[in-house]
Amino acid sequence: MDFKDFPIEKANRILAPRPTVIISTINDEAKVNGAPFSFVMPVSMDPPIVAFASAPSHDTSKNIQLNSEFVINLTPAEIINQMWITGEKVPYGENELEKAGLTSLESKIVSPPRIKESLAHLECKVIEIQEVGDHLLILGKVVHASVEENCMKDDLLDVEKVKPLLHLGGTSFVVGDHLRKVE
Ligand SMILES: Cc1cc2nc3c(=O)[nH]c(=O)nc-3n(C[C@H](O)[C@H](O)[C@H](O)COP(=O)(O)O)c2cc1C
Repeated sequence: MDFKDFPIEKANRILAPRPTVIISTINDEAKVNGAPFSFVMPVSMDPPIVAFASAPSHDTSKNIQLNSEFVINLTPAEIINQMWITGEKVPYGENELEKAGLTSLESKIVSPPRIKESLAHLECKVIEIQEVGDHLLILGKVVHASVEENCMKDDLLDVEKVKPLLHLGGTSFVVGDHLRKVE
């Protein structure tokens, strides 16, 4: 087996595919913002804490620094094109969810909305923001979670139904739609 060197600044291309989510936030005029993220991970189970990395220039980063709340919305493969539209640059305060034709659903605890078509949501309150390299690492405590009632099987996400979208890089994605178990 032969190995070739790989550019370290592209390390994220090796740590792939990663779950793709749409993060919703609001600004101080309650205007909704939505954008895709894949630098996302759970970091604690009890209490439940998740983290994601957002470039400081993103409207998402600005909104989170303003009001400390966000919602992580899953991206089923079915909404790949809508997710992509939420990633297009629009003027601050413009609602990418509306632009993409996604349906906002009032959250249970936090102010930013959930996305109906996402099928699963984590409502979060920020507990810490750290500058890490060229991104802000945002840590949020999960204060509420919701899943569409048919989307869990044996206490796991029913991937055959949800078909979660995983980001490989650029415009390439993997659909996580089948299960493989340890024998
Ligand atoms: C699939 C996908 C994943 C992305 N993941 C991230 C990420 O993890 N961190 C980040 O800072 N930007 C990420 N981006 C880029 C932002 O979504 C994009 O720059 C967006 O316009 C930011 O929107 P905002 O300014 O409304 O926050 C990703 C884009 C796509 C399409």
